[in-house]
Amino acid sequence: MKYDVMLCKIISKRQLTADVFDLTVEAGELAKAAHPGQFAHIYVPGKTLRRPISICGIDRAAQTLRFVFQIRGEGTAWLADVRPGDALDILAPLGNGYSLGNTRQKAVFVGGGIGMPPLLEAAKAFGENAMILAGFRNEESIILKEDFEKNGNRVLIATDDGSFGHHGLVTDLLDNLDFDVIFACGSTPMLKSVCNAAAARGVPCQISLEERMACGIGACLGCACRLKKDGREFYGHVCKDGPVFDYETVMWEG
Ligand SMILES: Cc1cc2nc3c(=O)[nH]c(=O)nc-3n(C[C@H](O)[C@H](O)[C@H](O)COP(=O)(O)OP(=O)(O)OC[C@H]3O[C@@H](n4cnc5c(N)ncnc54)[C@H](O)[C@@H]3O)c2cc1C
Ligand code: FES
Repeated sequence: MKYDVMLCKIISKRQLTADVFDLTVEAGELAKAAHPGQFAHIYVPGKTLRRPISICGIDRAAQTLRFVFQIRGEGTAWLADVRPGDALDILAPLGNGYSLGNTRQKAVFVGGGIGMPPLLEAAKAFGENAMILAGFRNEESIILKEDFEKNGNRVLIATDDGSFGHHGLVTDLLDNLDFDVIFACGSTPMLKSVCNAAAARGVPCQISLEERMACGIGACLGCACRLKKDGREFYGHVCKDGPVFDYETVMWEG
């Protein structure tokens, strides 16, 4: 894992919804090394622990990274207050991202809410071969639809309240689709449902997990998760072995 820490100048900031923000930073070598599905650990002044935020966009030519995040607590509230010209202390790129494989295959990307940003850069590689299934609470909370469409991806939306697209679960949209591979990021119930669909269809599936993190580099055991491979069960780290895992290696708790 090749990562570094760098002070990155913010070059743009946009507010996407009432509580979701979009930052692009100058990231030099960090942008060159980044891979879709990896994350950054961002320092928040006065906090001991950095905040993990997925890499949403990578522009290697411009050497920039993009992050889209939701305000959840003090750290993300501070992040929402930064301005273009300010610098962020970023440790990146961290973890294992999505293995894209054959991008001519029919891929389906399934995400829910703030689970959409980590999928954007991976879906870019698949262009029109990617179908995006995106679930949100309501029309007001839809994010990144135009960005996926700019990738050439086809986008289907589901909302909990039926205010836009399919009224119901985003995973309902898998039912009538034909695909070769699944990539997913979102809540645990959504991911479990995606994994069941992958098992039923016999297609490969990679899921991105979220866990509270401290060091972010596999040194503190703060993000332990139960995994299995070749019939053997063991504990791994979401930060180092993931956050993206082959669905068959994940052992769900409970
Ligand atoms: C690999 C990974 C990628 C992520 N990518 C994104 C993203 O792209 N966009 C986004 O909006 N959010 C993302 N998150 C969630 C984000 O890290 C938390 O919302 C954020 O850390 C909350 O910090 P806070 O100070 O605002 O909240 P507080 O609740 O005050 O945080 C207290 C502590 O708990 C940790 N924490 C709280 N919620 C989470 C959480 N859901 N996951 C992990 N740690 C948490 C914080 O890092 C901090 O150490 C990601 C989490 C992980 C693990
Ligand atoms: S956060 Fe320290 S081992 Fe993963």
